[in-house]
Amino acid sequence: MRPSLVPLLFGASAAASRLYAASYAGTVTTLSLAQSQGKAELSTIAQSTDCGVNPSWLMLDEAHRVLYCLDEAVDATNGTLTSFAVNSNGSLARITQLETMAGPVQSHFYLAPGLPNRKFFAVAHYEGSAVTSYSIDPISGVFNRSQTFTYHLDGPGPVPDRQDASHCHGVVVDPTGQFVLVPDLGADLVRIFRVNPYTGLLEPQEPLVATPGSGPRHGVFWTPKGSAPGQTKDVIFYLTSELSNHLTGYRVTYPTNRTIAFSEFYTSNSYGGAPAPNGSKIAEIAISPENNRVVVSNRGDNTFGTGNDSMGVFSVADASGRFATNVTFGGLFPAYGSFPRQFEMATPSGMIAEALQDSHAVAITGWNGEAGKPGPLVAKKSLVGEVVAVIWDGSA
Ligand SMILES: *[C@@H]1O[C@H](CO)[C@@H](O)[C@H](O)[C@H]1NC(C)=O
Ligand SMILES: *[C@@H]1O[C@H](CO)[C@@H](O)[C@H](O)[C@H]1NC(C)=O
Ligand SMILES: *[C@@H]1O[C@H](CO)[C@@H](O)[C@H](O)[C@H]1NC(C)=O
Ligand SMILES: *[C@@H]1O[C@H](CO)[C@@H](O)[C@H](O)[C@H]1NC(C)=O
Ligand SMILES: *[C@@H]1O[C@H](CO)[C@@H](O)[C@H](O)[C@H]1NC(C)=O
Ligand SMILES: *[C@@H]1O[C@H](CO)[C@@H](O)[C@H](O)[C@H]1NC(C)=O
Ligand SMILES: *[C@@H]1O[C@H](CO)[C@@H](O)[C@H](O)[C@H]1NC(C)=O
Repeated sequence: MRPSLVPLLFGASAAASRLYAASYAGTVTTLSLAQSQGKAELSTIAQSTDCGVNPSWLMLDEAHRVLYCLDEAVDATNGTLTSFAVNSNGSLARITQLETMAGPVQSHFYLAPGLPNRKFFAVAHYEGSAVTSYSIDPISGVFNRSQTFTYHLDGPGPVPDRQDASHCHGVVVDPTGQFVLVPDLGADLVRIFRVNPYTGLLEPQEPLVATPGSGPRHGVFWTPKGSAPGQTKDVIFYLTSELSNHLTGYRVTYPTNRTIAFSEFYTSNSYGGAPAPNGSKIAEIAISPENNRVVVSNRGDNTFGTGNDSMGVFSVADASGRFATNVTFGGLFPAYGSFPRQFEMATPSGMIAEALQDSHAVAITGWNGEAGKPGPLVAKKSLVGEVVAVIWDGSA
């Protein structure tokens, strides 16, 4: 998450940074981004096929050097979850592998203050219409399943071909660490769980109801820079909804110590209100390192030519870094490939690592924080298969 490689583009040192990329072809590839003759280049330094048939999501515990991989196992009855020890040469050694519900697609760590020697994570299952939770011994990387929640719809949603069933798609943890949110694309809900602070178990709460047919996918929280969790009134939740291509902003409050509430203040599509191109699907979302922009990726919009999709930018804070209700669309920028299903911005440089699913490639772009613009292209590398996730390793 925190590559220290800022000097990369400025030539000073021989700094290199490491990334991990998941491909549906069954591989997790360790990549090095380094400078060679004044040019940035991505190269493969290791590769593992131990995650499973269709790796879909990666989560790194940087401090403990453990990588967690979700295997969506697209046509199988069950998915799998695997932890890997990350060796200093970039190779991955399997620690624990567990079978799980079908179609795991996103996960997030969380903590329980009463169990300081444990870590936990929750997983969203698209195909399995489920949420599962796990407890981890963070030092060894060994983990156990704790809970499985499955969901059934009474009937299909307004977009029946995509909303035939509950499709849990994302996992987001609120800034206080007390709540886990799961956008459900099929049910038009954001499912909400309270983390039991003594056991780390998830306790279901009333969900946040989204616009019918919108298809909630991923989300991110915003708080003012430097504010301690629970000490600010300005907590905002931004949600991307795949079926409507919308970005929606909610003000978040905590009416009591054990409840969370949402009030919508903004919604617009990821084209600044212009009609979304046929077939386009908003996907990933992140807050810029300057804390004043929301960046999203759009899949299949071909905005910059065939096979050249877009990244969208929104201004979300005023000049003094305070929350602004007047979110403004800042335009579209090239993704340098097709189907940016997921991306991650490095801290503090903002460099964007993109998983280009239909280009079968990883792209790295710069980030101009002042202008709020992704680009230019820094490096691109083709891999085998559909690349669906790529993450930075700041400690390698
Ligand atoms: C990488 O490091 C691991 C653990 O030290 C070792 O087992 C493996 O052989 C190394 N791989 C290469 C290619 O050097
Ligand atoms: C595998 O999938 C089946 C069918 O959905 C489910 O009943 C079972 O619990 C899953 N196995 C695990 C370990 O989650
Ligand atoms: C996993 O379960 C085993 C057996 O119940 C237990 O001994 C171990 O402490 C658990 N580990 C974690 C990380 O929860
Ligand atoms: C809120 O709950 C947490 C544990 O969940 C506790 O540590 C904290 O003291 C509580 N705060 C208040 C104001 O009750
Ligand atoms: C939109 O695209 C789909 C398939 O990608 C096609 O079947 C449909 O005709 C297109 N609709 C319009 C209005 O172009
Ligand atoms: C909101 O409006 C104020 C006043 O017009 C302006 O200064 C500010 O830049 C706007 N905020 C955003 C995020 O565009
Ligand atoms: C995408 O569009 C940008 C901006 O026009 C261009 O630089 C780039 O070459 C295009 N194609 C790809 C595949 O990146």
